[in-house]
Amino acid sequence: MPFLRHALLAASTNPWLRDHATKTAFVRRSVARFMPGEHAADALRAAQDLEPQGITTILTRLGENLTTAAEFEDVTAHYLDVLDRIAASGLDAHISVKPTQLGLDLDPALCEKNLERLIARAGERRNFVWIDMEGSPYVDRTIALFKRMRQRTPLVGIALQAYLYRTQNDVESLIPLGAAIRIVKGAYLEPPDVAFPKKADVDGNFFTLCVRLLAEDARRPGAVLHIATHDVSLTARLAAHIATHEVPSSAYEFAMLYGIQPGQQARLAREGKRLRVLISYGEHWFPWYMRRLAERPANVWFVLRTIFG
Ligand code: FDA
Repeated sequence: MPFLRHALLAASTNPWLRDHATKTAFVRRSVARFMPGEHAADALRAAQDLEPQGITTILTRLGENLTTAAEFEDVTAHYLDVLDRIAASGLDAHISVKPTQLGLDLDPALCEKNLERLIARAGERRNFVWIDMEGSPYVDRTIALFKRMRQRTPLVGIALQAYLYRTQNDVESLIPLGAAIRIVKGAYLEPPDVAFPKKADVDGNFFTLCVRLLAEDARRPGAVLHIATHDVSLTARLAAHIATHEVPSSAYEFAMLYGIQPGQQARLAREGKRLRVLISYGEHWFPWYMRRLAERPANVWFVLRTIFG
């Protein structure tokens, strides 16, 4: 249903809808399926609940395209505190940040400084910082930022989107660094001159990129692949490739979003596969929630059932 996906992704950036929808009780109720709460404590509790299954986590505070130095500082201070709280809890939980939360739009130098502060704290706390990938206008700057960080430390990873034509080249440019790379399909509304319009092509590219990153010559010190998808058939194909080529389990982890395909998550964990679940929390969930709805039209019916059910 490309029309519905397009409409929901367009809605994700509409300020009027955001202001109204986030105050509506039924929308707030339906969001709870994907988000354990608005506070870091809610995310930490959810991480604790997943731990007995052997599932590790990544925590991310929602919010993007922030515009003031005070907001960038607030987010940075928040994540510094979260790194401390993770260490105190003993959980195996990384953090994941969006560069536009740290100042990329307004002040790239400040963004870099803020990211450095987070990575330094992650080093002190034996943790790890992931950089999310946002819309295509940010890709060059985000990769450049990642490369500068990676030259200094292996405690940083980056998400790359399989729907972009350019990603194959980006992967090749990152392999020599020994990079931690999270391959995702891509969640933003992108024009056909930058991204594959057809889902089958995105899925095909996802497989190709993962196979490339699992190859022996790509397995350098610091390199790890996050296979970040809920696509059961892609996961199965990649698991078969991994078994056939005897890829060591240290070379990859599966990664999924909190609340999506919990059955598949439990199955992977039961099979002894390494799985990290990304848990989002925070007050600014509207664009992110619209992207989740756009990923699966059936979710819209789920929301309608919440209203009328
Ligand atoms: P696909 O959309 O084909 O879904 C496969 C199946 O999974 C569906 O048929 C359905 O059964 C189920 N499913 C998928 N989404 C669902 C949903 N919302 N609700 C219910 N069921 C659903 N994107 C990005 O642009 N930048 C980033 O940094 C990240 N980071 C990230 C981290 C992690 C750990 C994950 C798992 C994903 C991201 N993403 C992301 C999001 C990603 O780009 C993509 O939009 C979603 O993962 C959905 O795509 P799938 O790979 O799951 O496949």
